[in-house]
Amino acid sequence: MLPNFLKPDALLAYISMMDSIAQDHFASGWEGKKEVTVLPLTKRYTFLVACKVFLSIDDPEHVATFADPFDVLAAGLNTIPVDLPGTPFRRSIKAANELRKRLVHIIKQRKIEIEENKASPTQDVLSHMLSVTDENGQPMTEIYIADKIIALLIAGHDTASAVLTCILKFLSQLPHIYSEVLKGTS
Ligand code: HEM
Repeated sequence: MLPNFLKPDALLAYISMMDSIAQDHFASGWEGKKEVTVLPLTKRYTFLVACKVFLSIDDPEHVATFADPFDVLAAGLNTIPVDLPGTPFRRSIKAANELRKRLVHIIKQRKIEIEENKASPTQDVLSHMLSVTDENGQPMTEIYIADKIIALLIAGHDTASAVLTCILKFLSQLPHIYSEVLKGTS
């Protein structure tokens, strides 16, 4: 299912959406600042795009209710996997449970919206996950879908934001390239 979302044709359809999220993000997080720390900002941007593509959520306040537990979850990923009180790993497990709960709520809501024709069965990754069945005709369970979405959030988060951060670093160090890129965008 995933290659359908990541093939070049599909990516083309995301460009205007990614651009509009970028414009809002620049206006709220970058403009007018004397200095910015890029990595946390690109992480937030990537998360905004992921919430839109995976779940059709674009309200920044709604996104923040996912971003907060996700940050705690992500902080525990590369730690010693010992589930003791006070450890990042324990906090990460708790945050993952919280995130799963919120996602299951959204999944239940979406099922109702699809039934009532208020949401499209193809509008985003979540709708697709709800519509596919396995070889026995069984749909994915809600908790399974929630786990898959968390996995996708993890897969696309640090990777894409690290790439964006490197691009910005090189553009800032290579003004002649930056000016060509700028020309290309205007
Ligand atoms: C610039 C951004 C990205 C980089 C550098 C990157 C890098 C990688 C690498 C190196 C692997 C292979 C890991 C392995 O086999 O050991 C991988 C696998 C994977 N990535 Fe990414 N990734 C990026 C973005 C994304 C995004 C945005 C998504 C999802 C929306 C994603 C989903 C996945 C999935 C599902 C796998 C596992 C594929 C499989 O095992 O069949 N990645 N990625």
